Amino acid sequence: MENKFNIVSLIRKKREGQALTKTEIRYLIDAYTADEIPDYQISAFLMASFINGLNAEESAALTESMLHSGIVVDLSHIPGMKVDKHSTGGVGDKLSLILAPIVASAGVPVPMISGRGLGHTGGTLDKLESIPGFTVDVDLNRYKEILEKHHLVLVGQTEEIAPADKRLYALRDVTATVESIPLIAGSIMSKKLAEGIDALVLDVKYGDGAFMKTEEQAAKLAHALVDIGLEFEKETIAYLTNMNQPLGYKIGNWFEVEESIDALKGEGPDDIMELSHLLSGTMIYLGGKATSVEEGIAKSKEQVENGQAYQKWLDIVEEQGGDISFIENPSSYPKASYEFEIKSEVSGYISALDAYEIGMASVELGAGRITKEEEVDPQAGIILKKKVGDKITKGETIFIAYTNKPTTIEAVSTKLYESVSVSETKPEKEFLISKVIDKKGIRDYPL
Ligand code: URA
Repeated sequence: MENKFNIVSLIRKKREGQALTKTEIRYLIDAYTADEIPDYQISAFLMASFINGLNAEESAALTESMLHSGIVVDLSHIPGMKVDKHSTGGVGDKLSLILAPIVASAGVPVPMISGRGLGHTGGTLDKLESIPGFTVDVDLNRYKEILEKHHLVLVGQTEEIAPADKRLYALRDVTATVESIPLIAGSIMSKKLAEGIDALVLDVKYGDGAFMKTEEQAAKLAHALVDIGLEFEKETIAYLTNMNQPLGYKIGNWFEVEESIDALKGEGPDDIMELSHLLSGTMIYLGGKATSVEEGIAKSKEQVENGQAYQKWLDIVEEQGGDISFIENPSSYPKASYEFEIKSEVSGYISALDAYEIGMASVELGAGRITKEEEVDPQAGIILKKKVGDKITKGETIFIAYTNKPTTIEAVSTKLYESVSVSETKPEKEFLISKVIDKKGIRDYPL
């Protein structure tokens, strides 16, 4: 690539708080992807961007450059609006496994490229791979073929999609530049836009168990994500949702598949069902199969009640090599070797369940990874017997934990015990879904 710019001047410009032009940002990303700029100079640019921020034009230029660092999948030969969902990650968040089959069964194509779990949050790919035989590694032709046949495909990111993000994300991880709203927004949106989607629904989480600890931070991130989506002419709707306690009752890869099966049969926990139907209803609306989000939600419920969503799940698991006997008979799945319970030592009401600590406990049991290279154990995890607001009496079980690593039991027992707060009076119920952000701005939910 022709060296049009002096990289040191660009870093200095950003360091001094000036805005870079679209061409300058494109040069930085292209030259870095082509190995023409070393990691240390891009790290300096990332830190200057982290500290001084990026304006809307710079954010759009960054996203566009990262998006075009690899292929942008062309799905125009498949009829209909292609719609995906992205969650900023949480504990017990298995919603992709539920809403993808619901939406696809309603006739909206869902090309879903997901990630692995890292840190306290789980990842859709690890959950899918807990189903024996299920493969998430498919090439582009097969990706299109499966999507065309089933209106659904559930895969992992390939080397060809947004390669600049892969390298930048690894660098941000080790240079303390992850928690920057424009950098996160560019990273997420470049990958999503590269999938070939026409519209996107975002679940932006806030709270103990989320990346964004407060609703205000989550709102800023949601605005940045929605603005980028709209800039690229993709209808984008974001919801701010609560992650102060785990979603549902099951945490851990296979356990979350199990809870998803219940949800697809209409028998999932209330929080899971409410959020799944909202997100899938919004996807159905954006996919043009409903005239409003409310009608989309009704359609989503109908797809669960008439069994078509569950059938779609069986079809996609089978198509991608998974053994459906475990889906049809989840209790036949082998259990972890060790099982232990955490009981309450007092009576009262559960007033808090620290989602971050519970997520980390699950990682220690083997369900997640701290570094990208670690293997996950599909059998490890935690079942909650109580949620916030539930009554508890002394001696009652709060958690049942499962592991194949007996050395973790003592420390995890303490961590889980300390993650629970009990009060004498029933705590006030927190909103599960607080706000919606779209092209009309930010509004309270319900709509
Ligand atoms: N998830 C991403 O894909 N990128 C980020 O920068 C943060 C979370």
